[in-house]
Parts: sequence; C-alpha cells; structure tokens
Amino acid sequence: MRLTQTSDLWWKNAVVYCLDVETFKDGNDDGIGDFRGLTQQIDYLAGLGVTCLWLMPFFPTPNRDDGYDITDFYSIDPRLGTLGDFVEFMRTAKDRGLRVIADLVVNHTSDQHPWFKQARSSKDNPFRDWYVWSDTPEPDDPKQVVFPDKENSFWELDKDSGQYYLHSFYKHQPDLNVGNPQVRDEITRILGFWMELGLSGFRVDAVPFLIQNVSPKLPDPHDFLADLRAFMSRREGSSILLGEVNVPYDEALTYFGDGNGTELTMCFDFIAMQRAWLSLARSEAEPLASALRERPKPPKDCQWAMFLRNHDELTLDKLTDEERQEVFDAFGPSPDMQIYGRGLRRRLPTMLGGDLRRIKMAYSLLFSLPGTPVIFYGEEIGLGENLEAEGRMAVRIPMQWAPEGGFSKAEPDREMPGGAYAPERVNVAAQKRDGDSLLRWFQLLIERYRECPELAWGEKRVLDCDHPAVLAHRCDADGATVLVVHNLSDTAADIELTLEGLAHCRLTDLLTDAVFDVGEDERVELPLDPHGSRWLRASAPDVPPEDASVKSQ
Ligand code: NOJ
Ligand code: CA
Repeated sequence: MRLTQTSDLWWKNAVVYCLDVETFKDGNDDGIGDFRGLTQQIDYLAGLGVTCLWLMPFFPTPNRDDGYDITDFYSIDPRLGTLGDFVEFMRTAKDRGLRVIADLVVNHTSDQHPWFKQARSSKDNPFRDWYVWSDTPEPDDPKQVVFPDKENSFWELDKDSGQYYLHSFYKHQPDLNVGNPQVRDEITRILGFWMELGLSGFRVDAVPFLIQNVSPKLPDPHDFLADLRAFMSRREGSSILLGEVNVPYDEALTYFGDGNGTELTMCFDFIAMQRAWLSLARSEAEPLASALRERPKPPKDCQWAMFLRNHDELTLDKLTDEERQEVFDAFGPSPDMQIYGRGLRRRLPTMLGGDLRRIKMAYSLLFSLPGTPVIFYGEEIGLGENLEAEGRMAVRIPMQWAPEGGFSKAEPDREMPGGAYAPERVNVAAQKRDGDSLLRWFQLLIERYRECPELAWGEKRVLDCDHPAVLAHRCDADGATVLVVHNLSDTAADIELTLEGLAHCRLTDLLTDAVFDVGEDERVELPLDPHGSRWLRASAPDVPPEDASVKSQ
C-alpha cells in the first residue's frame, strides 16, 4: 500500500492512546498529574509507537464524574496546568509527530456550569432553553438508566421552578439541548477553539444521547453530526470525530453518515469488543468470528475503532444474560469486581489471571483485528486495578513509571495497587530493560501493525478453521495479503488453512522468524503454541516480504 495514501487518511491505521492528564505524570509534585508532567513523557509515547493521543477531559470541573462534568469548555482545569502548559504540550507532541484528540463532552454540562446556573435561575432566562425541561416527564424505563447504582430516573425536579430537567447520566449532569440552534452554534465554537490550538479531532462522548434527547426534536438528529463534520472539514480536512456509539451494528452504521462518511469518522466497535471477551472466556473463536462477519463495512473513508478495555466499566450489555454470566464467571466472579449489573471494573491483565502468554495473545489480537486499535494508558505495561477505589475509578489509577511509583514525588492523589500489581512489580523502567516484557511486546506489535496497513485498510475475511480455539483472518489490499492466526486456548494447536489465491506463496511470520510455504492446493499447515499468535505476510517466493506491500508507487 502507498504510504502517501495511508497517511492522508491517517486515522484508518492510527494507534490511539487514551490517557488522563490527571493520572499520567505529576510535573509539580503536588500528587496530581498535569500537562507539564505529560509533556516530559512525550518521548516515551513516541517511542512506544502510538500515533495519536486521546486526552480524557481536562477542563475545569467539580469532578463528580472524573471530569466528564464540565464547568468551562474553553479552559484548563487549574489542577492540571494552564492554557500555556497545554499549548507547550501540543507543540512538543507535534514535534514528535503525535496527533492529539480530546474528549468532547457536550451531551451535558456540570450543574455548576454558569449556563445551567443561569438556566435554572428563572423560566425566562435566555439560557433556560439550553437545557431540556418538562412539566410532566414521560415515565422512564429503569433498565435504561446508565448509572443504576446512583440514579433511578433521567429526570430531576428543579424545586424552584417546579419543572424537571433531563439528565441522561448523573443528576448533576443536565443534558444540553442541541434542539436549540444557539447550543449547536456554541458546540461548533468549542470545536473551532480547540482545533485552532492544534487538536486533530475529538472523541465524542455519548453520541446517541447527544442527538436524541432534545427539544424540539430535530427533523433528522443526524443532520447535527453532519453539520459538525462539515464545519471541521472546512477548518481542517484531516480532523476526525471518534464516536462513543454503543448500539447494534446496523444502527451504528448510520452514525458514519453516507458516501465517504459525512458524520463520525470512526465509531468504537462495542460489539466485537464484547464478543472478544466472550471468546476469551470460552477459549473459542466463534463469538468474535461471528461479530467480525456481521460487522458492516463503514463508508470508504471511515473506520471502526477496536479496543479491549477503556476507562469505563468493561460493559457486557450487548451479550445475552447467559453470555454475560460466562464472562463474569471467568473474569470477575466476585461482586466487587462487577458493576451496574452489566460490567466489570477491572483491567485486562488481572482478568486474564496475570498469565503473560495469554495477555500477549489478547493484545496481538487487538492490534491485528481490522480497525484502528485504541489502548488505555498503562495497558502496555499490564497495569492492574485498585478495587478499593469507588466504582469505575478502580481502573483509573496512576501510571507506574518506576519501582517506587514514579508518578509523583508527593503522595499520589489516587492509590496504586498492591501485591502482584504494585509498582515494584509492574513499571515502565523495569520493562524497558526486559526484552520479554509486555512493553516490548507492545512496541513490536505497534511496529508491525504500522508495517501492515492491509490490516486496517484491507478487505477482511474470517477464514474457516478446523480448530474451534483458533481465529484466523486475512486482510487483502492492493494485491498484498496479511494473514493472522490466534490460538485462544492454553494447549498447542496445529491448524490447516486454505488460502485462496496464495498457492506457492511464502508466509513470513512477522513476530518470529518462521517461514511457511503454501502448497499448490492453496493449503498450509501452521503450528501454534498455547495462546500463540502469528502474523504472516504473504509474498511470492522471489519477493522479499518487506517488498510485498508496495509502498513506492
Ligand atoms: C461516557 C464516558 O466514557 C463516561 O466516563 C462518562 O461517565 C459518561 N459518558 C458521561 O459523560
Ligand atoms: Ca501536579
């Protein structure tokens, strides 16, 4: 594939690294991470090979939802630094070739936002209609409540006015009303402001809620997303919208818009993510394989974003009750590991019992699945969780840089895990010196992933495989093929595959130095270790594998 093409649509094979400035690195020794600390770690991130940083909310906030409750969309939480620190960070990231996107949380504000304070001050206030009010809200379905441990309704009575306001999430997060053109204008200004400061786009929080719960209803709620996309394209053609859209595939597809993609550039694939966990729980390829087969193709310039864990609970809401229970039994059997009746508040390594081979296989799977991989800070070193912390905060612990912690010279604001996941056992410094570490494995996977643009761009096919624990898929683009196989079980597997069109080709394992030849009957035998994986580039016997993905034309 031509690099001129892949870099033009850079997001299609980006490696996105999500981090919270607050938990990454403290630069002024007050126990709270900040932009100065993060800026000092830019070389670490560039060295890891990630290409795009996603910053979780860094705006002023009363912090009742870890920053997803904003009181000013145009400045920086003073605990994290100043706008000056932010610009210095952006400049340094750009210098190392890293793009930056940020959370766009405009479904709601904090109830402490000046707009909401104005809005609730009287029914005649010009800001009243910036939020969604009702005298007699429709009764709501308790099953739809997002945080059932804290809330039991979407509506909260504002005692002074006797009206109810809508809050799709916590009651301290009143929903903004994008049915109001002034609100839509203001959101556009927010995008424009941060793009002017160098952001390459946004991770859009809670997209379906944002466009649906408005008053009056928009004639077509998707028009608003299309308007945002058009605005961004006018200002900066290569900027992206990466949407949090946890809905079934056919519905998710509508969020990309038409043609080459007129709405969201990327959507997180919550379906494949949940089925991947079911596959891991069963050591069976089928749940994930069927998700990949069902997954619709996004419009030409768009892309699915793949992830295994993020900053929220590992939601399993799209599995059946029985399937969810299987994942709970395998990876979070005790009630304090579970949350909201639908998810797990754990990180990946603890769920996989600390089994390094299995953990490495899971990440090999993540990077090789068609789509853009998104990782959550600390995944590259196998950070654990702190179940003592409240709710989803369990996974939002400080980054572990060194045996003594290395996050801050002061006592960190948030606790680090103990035992097998304590900083003495899990940290960047030690893993940098260990060739077999998870960190080195991530670097290798990222390097290979970037060398195999076919994985992201290609026509994907899930292959028939004679072994239930093995997922085999291939991606073809511009006459080049990458084949990937993963053994989800803890016993070795010998598999045989038919590779259409690849008779007499050579398969070079890009993770080891093994080579396999495809017979004239298009069949190949591949041995796999327990939890083994292979990324195989196909080439004609006389073509070096490095030249099989044509880069120069
Ligand atoms: C989704 C975010 O990922 C989550 O952390 C947050 O609590 C809700 N949206 C509300 O903003
Ligand atoms: Ca600090």
